[in-house]
Amino acid sequence: MQILTAENIKKSFDGTKVLNGISIGIEKGEVLAIIGPSGSGKSTFLRCITQLETVDSGEISICGETLVKNDASGKAVYADRASCVKIGLHIGLVFQNFNLFPHFSVLQNITEAPIRVLNKSKEEAESTAHALLKKMDLSDKADAYPCQLSGGQQQRVSIARALAMNPDILFFDEPTSALDPELTGEILKVIRSLASEHRTMVVVTHEMKFARDVADYVVFMDNGTIIEQGRPDQVFENAQNERTKAFLSRFNEG
Ligand SMILES: Nc1ncnc2c1ncn2[C@@H]1O[C@H](COP(=O)(O)OP(=O)(O)O)[C@@H](O)[C@H]1O
Ligand SMILES: [Mg+2]
Repeated sequence: MQILTAENIKKSFDGTKVLNGISIGIEKGEVLAIIGPSGSGKSTFLRCITQLETVDSGEISICGETLVKNDASGKAVYADRASCVKIGLHIGLVFQNFNLFPHFSVLQNITEAPIRVLNKSKEEAESTAHALLKKMDLSDKADAYPCQLSGGQQQRVSIARALAMNPDILFFDEPTSALDPELTGEILKVIRSLASEHRTMVVVTHEMKFARDVADYVVFMDNGTIIEQGRPDQVFENAQNERTKAFLSRFNEG
């Protein structure tokens, strides 16, 4: 069964089409990489699936539950509010700029949502948080504040925060692009280890080698459309579309 299905997603901002009929499907345990030039609509697509934006039309189902589908006139109709909230709990999102709460300690950043949204006890939430911090190699940072951490450490905290909600699908929107090159590796290593645990993930990335190694499936977006998709070897070594070839050649130079 597909854990996520998006069909013909369309979205405009002020009359400008940003998503022009995007369709993807992901099986449980798969890693999907989304690549493509800046401005092609990758973040908007992730934001539509994670309910930070609404779609104009199209269908999205997550873990067998329908978040949105078209009415007879082809316009998007969302599930009721309670269902949308419930469906949102299947999903975790890691942002490019970490988005940690600056006035909360690392531990509070991780326990806040489990306590407030999932009604976990403080003890249980903290015990999970400590286990996740250990996994992220940050056991000594529980009481630190985000401003005391490197970008790579902040991003690992934000991955721990997402994992604390035990999501069925984890989304990453360019998780390394705000980091210095020497810190990128530590985040890619964490995502690789999550992939080896068969976590279902969607990763928007400009790290082509990483996408080729870790993804089960690769989607190339340009101008709000998927213009090429397939297994990594198909997309990276045998691209059919000229725009894909031109895009990839920029990463192969130097
Ligand atoms: N909230 C918004 N309002 C108006 N335009 C937006 C908004 N969000 C994104 N866009 C536009 O949509 C296009 C796609 O943006 P985005 O999804 O961020 O692309 P990517 O993540 O691939 O770089 C861009 O032209 C961007 O300016
Ligand atoms: Mg983006």
